[in-house]
Amino acid sequence: MPRLLCPTQLARTTSQRIQPKLAPSILSADFARLGEAVRQAERAGADWVHVDVMDGHYVPNLTFGPKMVADLRAATRLPLDVHLMIERPDRWVDRYADAGATYLTLHLETTPDVPGTIAAIRRRGMGAGVTCHPDTPHERLLELAGDADLVLVMSVRPGFGGQSFLPGSLERIAAARRALDGRRSAAELEVDGGVKPDNCRAVWEAGATVIVAGSAVYLDPDGPTAAIAKFRSALRT
Ligand code: DX5
Ligand code: ZN
Repeated sequence: MPRLLCPTQLARTTSQRIQPKLAPSILSADFARLGEAVRQAERAGADWVHVDVMDGHYVPNLTFGPKMVADLRAATRLPLDVHLMIERPDRWVDRYADAGATYLTLHLETTPDVPGTIAAIRRRGMGAGVTCHPDTPHERLLELAGDADLVLVMSVRPGFGGQSFLPGSLERIAAARRALDGRRSAAELEVDGGVKPDNCRAVWEAGATVIVAGSAVYLDPDGPTAAIAKFRSALRT
């Protein structure tokens, strides 16, 4: 069942006094040293690890699959937030559950039966996330907002790290925030793509509860620990 907010929680969420979670995306880390990359993020105070699964079909790029998630599961205690940019994610629910994913997020464009897949993800004990391509009209995502555990607003076109935050993303985040609050849903509102220390506060104020950052964490010249501190400092109330 979707989590419902009590009035106090709703007031706290809408007033945005709760610090957002930080979810470094390992897409920009050194793939030959991913265990160390997630342990470093954990030591630096990251809340989740964002794992971008790409199949070379739904998106042009190719990354990793369930074995990598299982190996990361053994390397960190942090929740594994698995973002499936693949065709037919419904066929992979059991494998990612077995691998130890905490959240499993699907794209509406790739999933014939979204409510059925959300239910299958939950039956396997994971949180169910929904998202869509930024060029897809957001109405359907907003309709589903109350039924998922996580709504992901993509602020770049999926496929690659290091892109710029798309204009209009703050408005789409705010619309998702209103949709969740309107349904009294405590689902996480995650934002992914082009988020840096200099725009993360605006993303939070628009209503995000989870901020994904890949290149701004793992490609920061001062290193991921310093980068995470820069995000925390920008978000300090
Ligand atoms: C893009 C991925 C993102 C990516 C974000 O398809 O979903 O998670 O890692 O990278 P940055 O933070 O560099 O935009
Ligand atoms: Zn992602």
